[in-house]
Amino acid sequence: MELARTLRAVEELSDRHFNVLRAIERSSLRGSAALPEAISRDLGLSGDYVAKLLKDLHGASLVWAPHGRAQGYVLNYAGLDALALRTMLRRGILASVGGALGVGKEADVYEAVTPEGERVSLKLYRAGRTSMTRYRRTREIPSELGSYLAASVRFASNEISALRTLSAAGLPVPRPVYRNRHAVVAQLIEGRLLVRVRSVQRPPELILEELLKSIKDAYEAGVIHRDLSAYNVMLDQEGRPWIIDWPQWVGRDHPNAEFYLRRDVQNVVYFFVRRYHLEVPPTMVEDFLSSVLQSGAPQ
Ligand SMILES: Nc1ncnc2c1ncn2[C@@H]1O[C@H](COP(=O)(O)OP(=O)(O)O)[C@@H](O)[C@H]1O
Ligand SMILES: [Mg+2]
Repeated sequence: MELARTLRAVEELSDRHFNVLRAIERSSLRGSAALPEAISRDLGLSGDYVAKLLKDLHGASLVWAPHGRAQGYVLNYAGLDALALRTMLRRGILASVGGALGVGKEADVYEAVTPEGERVSLKLYRAGRTSMTRYRRTREIPSELGSYLAASVRFASNEISALRTLSAAGLPVPRPVYRNRHAVVAQLIEGRLLVRVRSVQRPPELILEELLKSIKDAYEAGVIHRDLSAYNVMLDQEGRPWIIDWPQWVGRDHPNAEFYLRRDVQNVVYFFVRRYHLEVPPTMVEDFLSSVLQSGAPQ
């Protein structure tokens, strides 16, 4: 995996390298490339020394000079990974990072271990990854890449705030551990994605009922998932459903709250109808929605 290479760079590079990497991060998040002269001025280092540090960072694929060195450097996702991983390793949040648990559209999820020996999940956002080939061709690389990096940081921050609220309210979501930049560390769920489970060990109507209860509890806690489907539900070893992947959640006061809530409920209910041939009354979704909307109504 590519992350192994980044982890090696985190071990091998010096504090000076990371000072330069942080300077490039600051420019990138503002949407511009960092010029070598500016870095050497800001850090009070000679031009030759900065050039050498940049060469090492470039060699480790943490940074990129899209229009040539003289036009400046931008941060790659590997560079943002390196910054977040170094921070979490140094702060004693993580002791090591292992293999991949899942590669999604806009994030990579790895298994990791804390200094106490707890196995956890490490999610690294990659907003815009699917548009990479498009933006590579444009002349606006620094600003586009910058806005993707910033979006990844925002997703991670949104996700951890939902996990904090929901976990505190007792919902079956991964317990949050820590967030730095675009990286979220949370409880590792031992199990499989609902969509990949052909035969369930428990009656499917029970699983559906538990999921609907979670949707209702989340709504009462003020949170609507907005991307709920069998791809974002994991069944643990006892067959209990956990809801993952919360970066796009909205609050109950969102103008389209009801629309998103309905879509989440429909996705889940119709999945169970199709996959497990559950028979549900035709008014079931609407009846359930009314009960949820009522329960969340302000007193
Ligand atoms: N807390 C977790 N424990 C175990 N596996 C996880 C956890 N979170 C995510 N995964 C795995 O990683 C995959 C992608 O994670 P997800 O949060 O759905 O992000 P996305 O779909 O945006 O890429 C999931 O489908 C799942 O296989
Ligand atoms: Mg997902």
